[in-house]
Amino acid sequence: MKGYGMRKLAVVTGASGGLGEQIARQLAARGYDLVMVARDQVKMERIASELVAAHGISAIIEPADLSQPGSAAMLYERLTARGVVPDVFINNAAFGMTGSLINSDPDQLRGMLQLDVISMTELTLLFGRAMRARGQGHIMIVGSLSAFQPNPNMAAYGAAKAYALSFGEAVHVELAPKVIVTVLTPGLMDTGFNAASGFQTPPGLRRTMLAPEEVARIGLDALFAGKSGVVAGRINAIMAFGSRFLSRHAAAKAAHRMGQKTTQQING
Ligand SMILES: NC(=O)c1ccc[n+]([C@@H]2O[C@H](COP(=O)([O-])OP(=O)(O)OC[C@H]3O[C@@H](n4cnc5c(N)ncnc54)[C@H](OP(=O)(O)O)[C@@H]3O)[C@@H](O)[C@H]2O)c1
Repeated sequence: MKGYGMRKLAVVTGASGGLGEQIARQLAARGYDLVMVARDQVKMERIASELVAAHGISAIIEPADLSQPGSAAMLYERLTARGVVPDVFINNAAFGMTGSLINSDPDQLRGMLQLDVISMTELTLLFGRAMRARGQGHIMIVGSLSAFQPNPNMAAYGAAKAYALSFGEAVHVELAPKVIVTVLTPGLMDTGFNAASGFQTPPGLRRTMLAPEEVARIGLDALFAGKSGVVAGRINAIMAFGSRFLSRHAAAKAAHRMGQKTTQQING
């Protein structure tokens, strides 16, 4: 499937809600056919039929649980067998885990790292290799502001996003200029992320929140401009830049204090 009607084709992981849904919506508005990947088939079908009707594009739904070992390679094989040759690949699906590492469920931790790190890496390799062979393509990796400092009580998620940032910036250099890899760094957004990750937005940071529509637009503009990365939002960009001027230990302690304050405020 090279766009059913010779349109360009984009694969979006985590397209059933939140930021991924908004990226899928904006790619459809830009005329891309879609392959939507996530676990919730019903939600994706509802979004897809709306986008097909609104934009005259084609959309296929590919349910997958990318937290399972081997799932990324299986997804790539299934899509290749269906003749899917994407021009754009969006690595967006992820969840976080909140709380002290020693209280974490090891199975949930393994699933998170499989989704946020291993599947993301394998999909970038497989689709990046195919794009390189064709001499063109665009890959987005969705990171997080938590990549810029250690994150007590979200230690593994923050480390996974630090990996995503470093990995994406490195692969950008390997594949440019024909294949573009862009790391989109969102700050806080009001999506399903908090519920999926047990996270509570610190009240002091609520004003930094951006709508996922806005973050999607910033990310896609950076991707099609060929940038290695972009931080969504001016305050978030200042926070990312400012992290350079604090020792990593001091930054970790500040993040820890803010998390504890949030818990106290929310629990009264
Ligand atoms: N929200 C924030 O404050 C925030 C801040 C910084 C970075 N981010 C990043 O932004 C990206 C999008 O998150 P979001 O805020 O849009 O969260 P969200 O609303 O929870 O969306 C996450 C998406 O990932 C999919 N997903 C989750 N587990 C999956 C699995 N095992 N296999 C396949 N798909 C899976 C979900 O669909 P199903 O449940 O249907 O599988 C959903 O479509 C993530 O990379 C996240 O780390 C979010």
